[in-house]
Amino acid sequence: MSASLDVRDLRKQFAAGRPAVDGVSFHVPAGEIVVLLGPSGCGKTTTLRCIAGLEHPTAGRVSIGGRLMSAPLDGVQVPPRLRNIGMVFQSYAVWPHMTVRQNVAYPLRHRRAPRAEIERKTGDVLALVGLTEFAERPVVSLSGGQMQRVALARSLVYQPQLLLLDEPLSNLDAQLRLRLRDDLRRIIKQTGVTALYVTHDQAEAVVLGDRIGVMRDGKLLQMAPADEIYNRPADLFVANFTGASNLLAGRVLARGATGERAARQGWNSAGRQSLHGSCRRPPLPGHADDL
Ligand SMILES: Nc1ncnc2c1ncn2[C@@H]1O[C@H](COP(=O)(O)OP(=O)(O)OP(=O)(O)O)[C@@H](O)[C@H]1O
Ligand SMILES: [Mg+2]
Repeated sequence: MSASLDVRDLRKQFAAGRPAVDGVSFHVPAGEIVVLLGPSGCGKTTTLRCIAGLEHPTAGRVSIGGRLMSAPLDGVQVPPRLRNIGMVFQSYAVWPHMTVRQNVAYPLRHRRAPRAEIERKTGDVLALVGLTEFAERPVVSLSGGQMQRVALARSLVYQPQLLLLDEPLSNLDAQLRLRLRDDLRRIIKQTGVTALYVTHDQAEAVVLGDRIGVMRDGKLLQMAPADEIYNRPADLFVANFTGASNLLAGRVLARGATGERAARQGWNSAGRQSLHGSCRRPPLPGHADDL
């Protein structure tokens, strides 16, 4: 069963420097894919590791499926193995001495599942990721993209309630990356698992995410569907980070009751003039018309 994820005022302060995660709050309903997008060092991995329980947060609360998993100020820290989470990392992290099938079956064997169940679930998930014909091959004889499929299958085989993925495509070449990117969304959606996906690649975020959360310096600046992030960015950083931008200096003169329409005064090459409404940006990167 996939579960919702709730993160409230999450904060992680390492021994030195500014907080790696600084008051991050968001909610992911069951079955949704959310992508955390942001530049290197903005706190994406640390957020993911706090949710997995691999990192102890300094403050805040993490709940999965309504169950409190981390709440340091209340002394709650459920260990990672009891959170029923699947994780896929940038490094494939497969067992090199095992076959594809043995790798994928491992989490079920570790949980002492009955033999028939192991065979059925392993077969199902290998088919899901398109590796049935490679099942008996040593895992080290596979390509990078195939190995990442093994890692994905291994993290899905025990039907986790939440799947966390940290830049799983960044070790792959550009072409493979595009192919696996499209497959990943299909596979995740087919299982129905709730997923949190970390990347610094905006096209990947647009293709994969139902919603995208843009991070900077440990803070979550905006979380919304891709078209909203793109057409109505919360600030200049979000606008610049999520695509090519035309920036016009201006001043808000009036705002509607809902804040949806604003009259702006700006300047262009013809001199000072008023602009009304909002400009449309080019198509979203990663959308079909961009490929
Ligand atoms: N174990 C640690 N000890 C001290 N500081 C850390 C530790 N892990 C991360 N940091 C710091 O926390 C900040 C956020 O790091 P994090 O790895 O979460 O960034 P990121 O967004 O995943 O970056 P990247 O895209 O490069 O993977 C960085 O400034 C980093 O140096
Ligand atoms: Mg990272």
